Amino acid sequence: MNLISSGDLDRDEIKGIFSLADRLVANKERLSLREHSTVALLFTEPSTRTRVSFEVAVAQLGGMPIYVDAKSSQLSRGEELSDTARILSLYCDFIAVRTNSHDSLLKMAESAGVPVINALTELEHPTQALADTYTLYKRLGDLKGRRIAFLGDIAANTANSLMLTCTKLGAEVSLVGPRDWKPRAQCFNKAREYGRVYVSESMEEGLDGADAVYTDTFVSMGEEASAERRRSALMPYQLNSAALSNAKSGALVMHPLPAHRGEEITAEVIDGPQSVVWEQARNKLLIEKAVLLFLSEESERTR
Ligand code: CP
Repeated sequence: MNLISSGDLDRDEIKGIFSLADRLVANKERLSLREHSTVALLFTEPSTRTRVSFEVAVAQLGGMPIYVDAKSSQLSRGEELSDTARILSLYCDFIAVRTNSHDSLLKMAESAGVPVINALTELEHPTQALADTYTLYKRLGDLKGRRIAFLGDIAANTANSLMLTCTKLGAEVSLVGPRDWKPRAQCFNKAREYGRVYVSESMEEGLDGADAVYTDTFVSMGEEASAERRRSALMPYQLNSAALSNAKSGALVMHPLPAHRGEEITAEVIDGPQSVVWEQARNKLLIEKAVLLFLSEESERTR
């Protein structure tokens, strides 16, 4: 089994990953990967949190992480990602990939002989969404009937994965951004099959009753050429105190990081009492461990 899209996991599987995370926190069992497990981290794009937390996750589960980047591997000389994946599966038990081409990741997963994990593409960021929804679950309990608002770039990979995972868990998702800013149809239509997702250009309407307000950078990786246009279109949707006052009193403030204070979010909000961004970041390590254990159990089961 691979984890390419947040849509790959059903509700019970998401709950199973959360339960593994709880067991890791309780620390009463020796949960670990099969002896001598190796995990390739094939990253063609920069990363701080996902790279380091995956490396630590693998090491803490008794395995060995092997970081492979585009510059120092034969990818820099044109070897295809799918050939690289095929080779890495000869040596490693899992491959976690960060690439700006979701289509390449899908191709790779077809040629890899071991589980492939999406560590971010331009379309989705499923392990981030699991860490985010685990954070929500720990703070709010069952997410059924809860309302989560995503503010700003409603076509971002984090918005796509968040809406897929939240709707599977029974939460409503409200996407709030400029009128001409459309969500990615591929994920939006799928999320609407799982639950309730709304789009609004109005901050008052879109954030009304929200239990949590999530935002992300206005300029994602690969969008640098249109940075100025994006900033000026999205600035009215900055997550600041006035915007937050439209949500429920005490609504949680969420951001996957890295943050740009003064752009998509103000310092008073991200560093304020409602912010859970550091919990989200801490939970990445826990959830990545849980995902590796879950996929490992699935591989053993279907062997
Ligand atoms: N949130 C996240 O994916 O951070 P990095 O880009 O630093 O991995």
